[in-house]
Amino acid sequence: MRTVSVNRLTAAYDVGRPVLQDVTVTVEPGHMLAVSGRSGAGKSTLLSTIAGLLRPAEGTISLDGEPLGDRDHAVSQGVVLVPQDNGLATFLTAGENVEVALLANGRGAAEARRLTVECLTALGLAGQRDQLVEELSGGQQQRTAIARGLALRGDVLLADEVTSELDAVSRQTVMDLLRKEADRGAVVVFATHDPDAAAVCDAELHLVDGRAEIVRSEPAADAQGAQAAQAAQAVTQPTASPTARA
Ligand SMILES: Nc1ncnc2c1ncn2[C@@H]1O[C@H](COP(=O)(O)OP(=O)(O)OP(=O)(O)O)[C@@H](O)[C@H]1O
Ligand SMILES: [Mg+2]
Repeated sequence: MRTVSVNRLTAAYDVGRPVLQDVTVTVEPGHMLAVSGRSGAGKSTLLSTIAGLLRPAEGTISLDGEPLGDRDHAVSQGVVLVPQDNGLATFLTAGENVEVALLANGRGAAEARRLTVECLTALGLAGQRDQLVEELSGGQQQRTAIARGLALRGDVLLADEVTSELDAVSRQTVMDLLRKEADRGAVVVFATHDPDAAAVCDAELHLVDGRAEIVRSEPAADAQGAQAAQAAQAVTQPTASPTARA
């Protein structure tokens, strides 16, 4: 499993001023980082950059100290993105969306089928497996995208607003599944508007107009006593450079 390091990242689209400026954060395996901030603050841009979809204008993103390249490189390194718009093929079924991603990822047919059923079931979508995505509700589509992301069993899971369309029960299910990913040793980076969802993450990077302004770094809710708390503090140290430091 990998440590994700974002070091003094500045990111910009083709024209205009940088969307992210001088953002620094490190997330160790087994930890969940919430990326919060108002609409337009740069949350998706940060996740896209970590996913290799957008090249840093300045600064670096690395996995275990190795610089990340483009999206193909990030995929080969186990960086999974659940995008804000779901990114599902609407003309395929929910099951096909998950299965095709697994096959493209090199899984055998039998394993792809098994993981597809397992992950759709975990998201409460066993009955929707053979339904076209375009026939699913918004929340069902969102859960299908999460199932696909979970099925890939990445080292790094980037989850962009994946609870925005969900009811409270489904939201809790998703947060539990993200925590299970972290417990498996993955890094989970979760962009959200929802303060309650952010609060259950181990740390929080708060973006304001592309700058990391407020940072919370605290132990996981289930940390076992002071020793675990200290360990969590030591390994998850997001820093909003240059001024704010957890
Ligand atoms: N493809 C793009 N080309 C140019 N500008 C973009 C592009 N995508 C996003 N932006 C701009 O970058 C800024 C940050 O957008 P981003 O999508 O990262 O925000 P966000 O925090 O994810 O917002 P939301 O909560 O609404 O999803 C915005 O000003 C947006 O207009
Ligand atoms: Mg966004």
